Amino acid sequence: MAVQLPETVRTFVEENLVDRHGTNSEKWDGLQAEFGATDLLPLWIADMEFAAPQAVRDALVARVTTGVYGYSFTPDSYYAALADWMQRRHGVTIQSDWVRLTTGIVKALYMMVDWLTAPGAPVAVMEPVYYPFMHAIEDQGRKVVSANLQWGESGWQIDFDELEQVLAVNHPRLLILCSPHNPVGRIWTADELRRVLSIAEKHDVIVVADEIHQDFEVGGPRFTSALAVATPTQMRHLVVLNAASKTFNLAALNNGNVLIPDAHLRADYDQYSQRVDNVAGTMLGQIATEAGYRHGEEWFDHLLDVVRFNYDHLRDVLADGAPQVKVADLQGTYLSFLDLGAYVDAQDIRDFVQNQAHLAVDYGEWFAPTTATCIRLNLATDPQIVDEAARRIVAAVRSAK
Ligand SMILES: Cc1ncc(COP(=O)(O)O)c(C=O)c1O
Repeated sequence: MAVQLPETVRTFVEENLVDRHGTNSEKWDGLQAEFGATDLLPLWIADMEFAAPQAVRDALVARVTTGVYGYSFTPDSYYAALADWMQRRHGVTIQSDWVRLTTGIVKALYMMVDWLTAPGAPVAVMEPVYYPFMHAIEDQGRKVVSANLQWGESGWQIDFDELEQVLAVNHPRLLILCSPHNPVGRIWTADELRRVLSIAEKHDVIVVADEIHQDFEVGGPRFTSALAVATPTQMRHLVVLNAASKTFNLAALNNGNVLIPDAHLRADYDQYSQRVDNVAGTMLGQIATEAGYRHGEEWFDHLLDVVRFNYDHLRDVLADGAPQVKVADLQGTYLSFLDLGAYVDAQDIRDFVQNQAHLAVDYGEWFAPTTATCIRLNLATDPQIVDEAARRIVAAVRSAK
């Protein structure tokens, strides 16, 4: 039976839902390659089943039909649209000259590690965390040191004592912070961010904050950028990465921002990036980003309603049918992190998810060895898909008993 949707959610879904089969979609057409099966309902990979806002599509079409794709620079209007959006949505004032372009935030993470650390050096993260953080460190011959997050009565928390300890013992030069946090769904409060920045400052650590999910304020606190709480001294050791790619579903357009407020650090980055990467983002990605920031706000607010609805629905179906599944609070991102450990052992998780529930998910073990009984579900999709996934989990739990 189809899930009953509130009016705003129903309208958004009707107007924007797309069938992605046969479009070289990694999430839909890449199932065989990743999971060795094609009959799985895909809720992995963080992109959406929704077409980008009409204004974004119009801006891209307008440019594409000129037939001119020669060397282009980034117009001032791009930086102005980014600054307006950050001011309007998040109360953060940025300056255009802080901004450098990148062809992707993962690409930028690799560059941060290479730029700021030497081979063999430790780099700090807080696991569980988006696995390309660890790949960027380990693929380049650096060492991951983790101050693990803790999941207690009040949800996922930073263990500040552990962070202090990890920085004091290992002396990393770099801490990569995920804010809002993928996969645990936390929006760090201003106070939590201040504490992280001050511990980093005390141990002389540069903070790179990956804020790609900044716009997804789903529940709980409003998003606070590290740029909004850093003291002038901490600003000298801060880099923020963000993009419109999650917000408006633009991942394949390969555009993101590297924000470096401090002039010395920025000059050093410029010297480094000149050597390894002379590409400054992508023209079409910038056109789409600017159009989204200027005209996509209403579309995005309705998208947030869909994510909230999907999260509440998932939690309700699970609470009813599989009450011991632990569902992390979803404050930021559109990714729900669940612990199935009460029903399934770590070594049986893949069998449970793929052979019993017939789902494709991001596995908890990808984010940390300690979350091997967890899975991450993508909620930026059709509510009927979320409903089906929740019901399949419940049915698989019942038959596993
Ligand atoms: C925290 C985080 N950073 C970066 C990315 C990917 O960014 P990009 O596609 O620009 O490489 C994702 C995508 O899921 C993410 O969750």
